[in-house]
Amino acid sequence: MKLISRSESDTFEIGRKIGAALSGGEKLLLIGDLGAGKTVMARGIAKGAGSNDEVSSPTYVIEKIYRGRIQIRHIDLYRIEKREIYSLDLDALENASDAIMIEWGDKLPISYRKDSIEVKIDFNENENDRLIEIVGDDECKIKF
Ligand SMILES: Nc1ncnc2c1ncn2[C@@H]1O[C@H](COP(=O)(O)OP(=O)(O)O)[C@@H](O)[C@H]1O
Ligand SMILES: [Mg+2]
Repeated sequence: MKLISRSESDTFEIGRKIGAALSGGEKLLLIGDLGAGKTVMARGIAKGAGSNDEVSSPTYVIEKIYRGRIQIRHIDLYRIEKREIYSLDLDALENASDAIMIEWGDKLPISYRKDSIEVKIDFNENENDRLIEIVGDDECKIKF
């Protein structure tokens, strides 16, 4: 599915709809360059999943956990180097009841990207425009 966002609040709203469709156990890879809007999207997703917790990138901690209708785990791989990825406990990411959202999820080894929902955010011509592509969401049936 391809969508256009024209503002930060559009992206938040798209995230909110994704979050509302989650039932737990989903792995969302948030993919896009610095400043694309991954954290804005994560904020919307957490809100849609019923969390009022403050969402910010877990830059100096490995992950943050938000409590809502379901529990959401937020990871940001921006500062991690490729070789360090293998020292993360990646299998622990696969906790069945939590939904997990991973900024820079495209840094994960391919074997850990399978069965995930990819949310790709790309810059577009205008400063505040973004192209958002959601791939692999057949299971959770997000309604827009
Ligand atoms: N359409 C848009 N969607 C999301 N963010 C936008 C948009 N237009 C402008 N912005 C701005 O871009 C920045 C995105 O920041 P952030 O979500 O932290 O990016 P990332 O986590 O991808 O590095 C914010 O300052 C936000 O206000
Ligand atoms: Mg971010």
